[in-house]
Amino acid sequence: MELSITTKLSDHMTPKPAADADLGFGQIFTDHMFTMDYNEKSGWHSPQIVPYMPIDLDPSTISLHYGQAIFDGLKAYRAPDGSINLFRPKLHLERINISNERMVIPPIDPDFCLQCLKELLRIEQDWVPDRPGCSLYIRPFIVAMDPCLIVKPSGTYRFYIILTPCGSYYPQGMNPVSIFVETEYVRAVRGGSGQAKTPSNYAASLIAQKRAMAAGCVQVLWLDGVHRRYIEEIGSMNTFFVIDGKLITPELNGSILSGITRRSVIELARDMGYTCEERQIAIDELCALAKQGHVSEMFGSGTAAVISPVGELHYETERIVFNQGKTGKLTQLFYDTITGIQYGLIPDQYNWTEKI
Ligand code: COI
Repeated sequence: MELSITTKLSDHMTPKPAADADLGFGQIFTDHMFTMDYNEKSGWHSPQIVPYMPIDLDPSTISLHYGQAIFDGLKAYRAPDGSINLFRPKLHLERINISNERMVIPPIDPDFCLQCLKELLRIEQDWVPDRPGCSLYIRPFIVAMDPCLIVKPSGTYRFYIILTPCGSYYPQGMNPVSIFVETEYVRAVRGGSGQAKTPSNYAASLIAQKRAMAAGCVQVLWLDGVHRRYIEEIGSMNTFFVIDGKLITPELNGSILSGITRRSVIELARDMGYTCEERQIAIDELCALAKQGHVSEMFGSGTAAVISPVGELHYETERIVFNQGKTGKLTQLFYDTITGIQYGLIPDQYNWTEKI
């Protein structure tokens, strides 16, 4: 397939943010985007880079009604020599196909899409921030396009990649946050769509997010949907605990997202000689261990949030404080190592980064 490129800038072009602007997360979009179409006759076809612009949709577009859609998220980082690193991009593009399979969307070709992404990034390279803690967040997504109100898999799809220069996901930055343990609502059950990155998982989480915020917390910690006991993940990221010097993270059980930062933490920890167990951990077990002084750290891991320290858990009437509410030693170590590799500040002995 031939990639077509139209770089004429549209009326919707956004001025680049000032060098010292607070970028926040997902607020500003670059000048161009990638699109590719699917239909049953031609498969994925017509890949193109075009000016960023609003999408014209038929009001009956099936994804608007029944949510047949997926997304992913990865980042491009500016290295000290000015070059641009992508972090484990192939894993992200392959994960799109895991989400696609669950949502009955035809698979993409990860190698071809990576070439197209690199081309888009070459065009938009000036948008990659060069400030510490900032990066260019890449949002690939696929929407079902059939204009039809029958509940069925669409016959047509559109794949987009849009780009947004960003700072930290939480306004608190790397400061430890408070997390609310949700006991009423659940995010996912085995056999559901919990391991897919699909919009409805996030829409269904908003009510719990609202409850968390009312309790003075920034995010939710989800428990499993059957026993309401086993820890699954934090609102938009995976989670880790340091218990008696060992790293513990909930095992991938079919309802948890298989995070690429999660995988990187596990691989790094094991390579550094730490024990890392992927296992079930119940909230009551965690509380008991914390009361006995065994739990020294908790953190979240995700592309948007990278490594995010948790200072305190609110679980019903209990308050579990980790490391006196300060960032723990291992949390800082994983943050420094992963961001060091991403920004090209330390050697990438794992070949996790790719230049564009
Ligand atoms: C990411 O970390 O890339 C995510 O997709 C989480 C998102 C909800 C911001």
